[in-house]
Amino acid sequence: MTAPFILGIETSCDETAAAVVQGTSRVLSNVVATQHDLHRRYAGVVPEIASRAHLERIIPVVREALGTAGVGLGDLEAIGVAHRPGLIGSLLVGTSAAKALAWALGVPLVGVDHVVAHLHAGLLDDEPVSYPALGLVVSGGHSSIFLVEGALEVTLLGRTIDDAVGEAYDKAATILGLEYPGGPAIDRLAADGDETAHCFPVAKLGPESLDFSFSGLKTALLYAVTGGPPRPQRRAGGAVGASHLSVKQKADLAASFQRAAVTAILEKVKRALERHPVAALLVGGGVSANRRLRSELQDLARGHRLDLRLPRPAYCLDNAAMIAGLAAAKYAAGDVADLSLTAAARSEVASGRH
Ligand code: KG4
Ligand code: ZN
Repeated sequence: MTAPFILGIETSCDETAAAVVQGTSRVLSNVVATQHDLHRRYAGVVPEIASRAHLERIIPVVREALGTAGVGLGDLEAIGVAHRPGLIGSLLVGTSAAKALAWALGVPLVGVDHVVAHLHAGLLDDEPVSYPALGLVVSGGHSSIFLVEGALEVTLLGRTIDDAVGEAYDKAATILGLEYPGGPAIDRLAADGDETAHCFPVAKLGPESLDFSFSGLKTALLYAVTGGPPRPQRRAGGAVGASHLSVKQKADLAASFQRAAVTAILEKVKRALERHPVAALLVGGGVSANRRLRSELQDLARGHRLDLRLPRPAYCLDNAAMIAGLAAAKYAAGDVADLSLTAAARSEVASGRH
């Protein structure tokens, strides 16, 4: 029996995405229409603009995903959709489109948690992993560590108590007057900087904690740029006086920021490994594209003989292949939804404590 074709749909934030995956890991197409150009001037995602753009793009994107895969609507066995967490107006576009397709085709609908799907990204186009594993999601909306006892058995161990790491990267880039989204810009600039130029804080949050905190790091960078806490004549936020900095100074700030951010992540992953000595680590989310983070995780994996699953670049950022892959696992387990499925702003596994 051939593995089923699953269409995945992703609209949780500012990417309109659709993909066709066969089984849980064979990606036949992965189409992403990004909205960065629409949000750049606001240095962040504007929810109303995002949902309107999803509405305009969802049907062409689904068509392209089917066309590239060479799969017809009648070949699909199920429709998977990210229905949480995210911007509610954006999620509703994808959820409504998925429901309409599932109903019209008479196939099951599978609701997927976007954060759990990021953990599936490193399994795409690759061999299955042996559980239990640890999971690390580092994105613009989440920074969380999980114990993953099966594709569908995911327990939260720690999460950020304030900013997500990608959010901190984006804000740091704004402070330095770099382009949006800031993660890739800081990643590039940091390569030419001296990471020991500034000693930025790495939040520990107590000897037992597996939580993260990135807001102090962001503030430390801001003060390094402005020379201290705001006075009335200084504007808070925005490109605060970054124009007085040379390219070298900005590179040093970016490298020092990145060193602190990556160190904070690695320390908590090591702590989680001490507590849960598993043989695999699943990583996902936009920040998993970061070169410094990837190389440190690879060193860690060598030292601990870990089966490290770093997603390919196309699967780090928001995409629908990870949604379809996880939906295939849920479908195989009989975990399907009905047409009462609705969008929810919060994750079922990654939220809770604030
Ligand atoms: O997973 P994602 O596409 O969306 C969310 O679910 O949030 O992640 C987007 C985030 C943004 O904050 C972006 O700045 C960050 O991932 N990012 C990076 C890099 N590429 C994207 N952060 C650091 N280094 C990168 N190379
Ligand atoms: Zn994401």
